[in-house]
Amino acid sequence: MCDEPDGSYCENLDLGREMARIVQDELEHFHLVIGLLQTRNIRFRRLPPGKYGKRLNELIRKQEPQTGGGSAVDCQLIEARSCERFDLLREHVHDRELAEFYGSLFESEARHHSTYVRLAKDFADDDAVRERFAGVGRRRSESHRRGG
Ligand SMILES: [Fe+2]
Repeated sequence: MCDEPDGSYCENLDLGREMARIVQDELEHFHLVIGLLQTRNIRFRRLPPGKYGKRLNELIRKQEPQTGGGSAVDCQLIEARSCERFDLLREHVHDRELAEFYGSLFESEARHHSTYVRLAKDFADDDAVRERFAGVGRRRSESHRRGG
């Protein structure tokens, strides 16, 4: 269900607006993190990606075709994972400022998740979305059984 013959969605205004909002939020998070690091005298540096996130990304990349609906399902899974992490962090961190910060990130990621769920349903019918979601879920379970 691509808008363009090349499979892009460049003329889909609703999608463009939603994606721009999400990009703005993510950039704002980046600046907030940089600010927090500076006030705490922590050097900005690359951290190695976690095993779970890496495996999830690998599973998602194997899902073909990369249609708009499929991509939105994949993105909502990533946002859901972010929600899980920020929820755990805000619950367990003893630093009040950080707990509030993680809480605000949790809320933002939850909004992103909802947006991707809505977009997935705009691009594909419920069965296709469910099938995609189940496919990633199955692969994820298989990966966990193999020790991933
Ligand atoms: Fe997000």
